[in-house]
Amino acid sequence: MARPVRRLGNLPAETTSFVGRKRELADLRKKLATARIVTLVGPGGVGKTRLAIRAASDLGRAFPAGAWLVELADVRDPGLVANTVMAALDLRDQAATDPASLLLGYVESKELLLVLDNCEHLLEASSHLVSAIAKAAPGVRVIATSREPLSAPGEHILPVPPLELPPAQTAGPLDRLRQNEAIRLFVERAGAASGAFELSAANQDAVVDICRRLDGLPLAIELAAVRTRVLDVEQILDRLTDRFALLTGGGRAALPRHQTLETAIDWSHELLTEDERTLLRRLCVFTGRFMLEDVESVCGASETLNLVSSLVDVLRATACTRRCASTRAASCATPAKSTPSNNAAPTTT
Ligand SMILES: Nc1ncnc2c1ncn2[C@@H]1O[C@H](COP(=O)(O)OP(=O)(O)O)[C@@H](O)[C@H]1O
Ligand SMILES: [Mg+2]
Repeated sequence: MARPVRRLGNLPAETTSFVGRKRELADLRKKLATARIVTLVGPGGVGKTRLAIRAASDLGRAFPAGAWLVELADVRDPGLVANTVMAALDLRDQAATDPASLLLGYVESKELLLVLDNCEHLLEASSHLVSAIAKAAPGVRVIATSREPLSAPGEHILPVPPLELPPAQTAGPLDRLRQNEAIRLFVERAGAASGAFELSAANQDAVVDICRRLDGLPLAIELAAVRTRVLDVEQILDRLTDRFALLTGGGRAALPRHQTLETAIDWSHELLTEDERTLLRRLCVFTGRFMLEDVESVCGASETLNLVSSLVDVLRATACTRRCASTRAASCATPAKSTPSNNAAPTTT
């Protein structure tokens, strides 16, 4: 009987447009020509995973055994890193054999590209494994993504910056502005979300301000852009401005340049309607998966369907649906700190 053909890679198809990053892609390609392990380092939401997957799709063809994505975000036990890599490579676990030895035995003669995504909570285990792979398998290249370097021997670091920002004063032609990475991401996601969004002379200043206030963080830009479905860009900007005033007591200089994923989610929370926020807070009672009927039994049936739909739309507009929801739910579940403007709302700042 014919043996099933082994897949040559497992990279996911990109479901939203990819914007810019020419310089970072070129840097990554150059580093991988000599380094065996390159770690993309940067805060949550800055675009490490998108960059790693895009680079691996571009470079994967040069690896006869393919390009493989290993998602570590949900792995809690450092002892399971090797098993997770094996599962991603479609390798079967053999109970009697140590998974790391089995993995090293498989990769030692292969030429493949491994993307280890979200290593930050498993730094030591990831570092051990990638250095063992680098030693045993000269044909393997690793792209890791992490908020911090793995500190593995031979690791090269590539810091991932936020998207290129437009200048504050935008007297130039609209066409030039459209080339800017942060603006392009906002315009593309707003267009996809609302179906009718166009950058124009009338809204360009507000769009530039939004992107600049969000420090070019792609996740934050996507979350703001999706609100064009219900708010105009001036309203989005006003809400972000209030948020900054609240965070800094009015002094913009007090804000750290590079915001965290948590802060990005906080901004997006600010952009929800009061009813959507109330629903989100109530969803904290669920710790795992839940169905619409469960939500209705907790929140009542009237309006719940509409609210759940609009909340799902907001979350679906980003690639981080599940993580955003659970991060926000987790922060909702922690006792709310009181803030000057809203004593009831949970806050993560
Ligand atoms: N260059 C890009 N083009 C288009 N979308 C991007 C780009 N970089 C990031 N994004 C989007 O921004 C969000 C956060 O990016 P992600 O790669 O998940 O960040 P990180 O891995 O650093 O947390 C995702 O929804 C992603 O699709
Ligand atoms: Mg990521």
